[in-house]
Amino acid sequence: MFEKDDHTIADLIHDETFDMESEEIRKIGYQMVDLLVEYFQDMRTAAILPNKTLKEMSKLIYEPLPQNEQTADQVLDECKKKIMPEMIRIGHPRLLGWILSSGTPIGAFADGVASALNQNVSVSGAGMATAVELLVIDWIKEILGYDPCAAGLLVSGGSLANLTALTVARNVKANFNVRNSGMKQDRSDKNMILYVSEEVHVCVPKAANILGIGTDNIRYVNVDQNFCLDIKDLRKKIVEDQKNGLHPFCVVASAGTVNTGAVDPLESIADICKQYNLWFHVDAAYGGFAALSSRLKPLLCGIERADSIALDPHKWLFIPYEAGCVLVKNSSYMKQTFAVNAEYIHANTSLVSNEDVDFSDYGIQLSRNFRALKIWMSLKQYGVLKYGRLIDQNVNLVQYFSALIDESLDFEIVTKPGLSIVCFRYFPMNLQKMYEESSSVQKERISEYLNVLNRDVVNSMRIDGRTLLSSTILGKKFVLRACVVNYRTTKKDIEMILEILRELGNIADKKFRKMFL
Ligand SMILES: Cc1ncc(COP(=O)(O)O)c(C=O)c1O
Repeated sequence: MFEKDDHTIADLIHDETFDMESEEIRKIGYQMVDLLVEYFQDMRTAAILPNKTLKEMSKLIYEPLPQNEQTADQVLDECKKKIMPEMIRIGHPRLLGWILSSGTPIGAFADGVASALNQNVSVSGAGMATAVELLVIDWIKEILGYDPCAAGLLVSGGSLANLTALTVARNVKANFNVRNSGMKQDRSDKNMILYVSEEVHVCVPKAANILGIGTDNIRYVNVDQNFCLDIKDLRKKIVEDQKNGLHPFCVVASAGTVNTGAVDPLESIADICKQYNLWFHVDAAYGGFAALSSRLKPLLCGIERADSIALDPHKWLFIPYEAGCVLVKNSSYMKQTFAVNAEYIHANTSLVSNEDVDFSDYGIQLSRNFRALKIWMSLKQYGVLKYGRLIDQNVNLVQYFSALIDESLDFEIVTKPGLSIVCFRYFPMNLQKMYEESSSVQKERISEYLNVLNRDVVNSMRIDGRTLLSSTILGKKFVLRACVVNYRTTKKDIEMILEILRELGNIADKKFRKMFL
């Protein structure tokens, strides 16, 4: 390869390095801490959303691929001036949209430590990082009252947790060896059918698509008036599919739906799965850690019977992104599904014993970061009792919000609080009166107008910046949706949010009513 002799090649090596002097690391570290302290300090008063478009932001930071060095100081300064001010303030006490949680400060520092330690928590011999992940998984099983022998894995989030669990479910329940022959849905084998409720999170059908189950083989089971899976309809659909020669293989129950926080009837679903020999999976990404509250835990009764569970510590454990977790009761099923052998990975060295755990045998990833550290630190700093109180507080805040809405003459509750979610809409008092006295045609027009009105309220919140809720559609109603997974939100914030919404609703009504009614 080289024409020059070895001596000349050695002369070409200048021992260049990316290393920084300890003093420089210390200096930059202190500056970073100051930056983070400022960020956390401003959380309550700063605007929730940046006021620039993506295009404007891209323009702000655009530069050609950097060719030459800059000091860490310069880079950090640019991050401070250009990037940090444009962040969406996830963790702001009046950001109640989607399911966005306020990450623990210690979790943020743990991520920094984990990156510095740069462990690859996968291959056998990852040692202490593996031990921490195993301990954290044991703690999560204990929180849920799940089988202590179950296997678990930390993943990026709920979507990956559901995908991982459903991969195991598919492989275990297939009447053929999926690993060898691939999916045979369009050949002689009976199609494998997956049952979910109409309210299931979209990541589940997405997982079914990835796994080759196919959208046509997903049965959307009706929900009852509380948006919980209707057991009768589930049984009916399973029996029908069996009669038609199909292969029902799995039911996904939700422990906390994303729209309304509904918890499906887990015990009854477990009974049905047992009767028809189906895999019982629970998507507990949002509601699973409600088990930390002794008041809420009974809602999750039956979760311990699940074959697998998907969880999101980056929701109600307040862990900074990304932190998901999947549990599978029969650990050998996980290994059967994912374990592969390669000499270059599984070196038989004296460092590796039979008791070693290789997390790449339990999921999709090979290289994995040290996610467990931020969960370990957060659980240790706050303890499960305080966690339970905070989760209760979130639920109480939403019930308080719901009571305030109920008392207000210009709002309407659409769904009662489910866990820490409430759905409602702005409905001006004189319009409510008009609605009651209207014909069915007029009622239809008013309903359409209410959708326009509430859509505008959501849009104005983005510009206003004092609060941000998301929205959803329930039946034909466009509704505002508040979800508190936030340890900063207070009673005062809730009162303020209602006032802001009233103000924005009023403005929208003045702007649009004449045009529409
Ligand atoms: C019930 C439910 N399942 C799954 C997910 C997906 O989780 P993630 O966004 O962590 O992938 C969510 C996200 O909100 C959810 O609410």
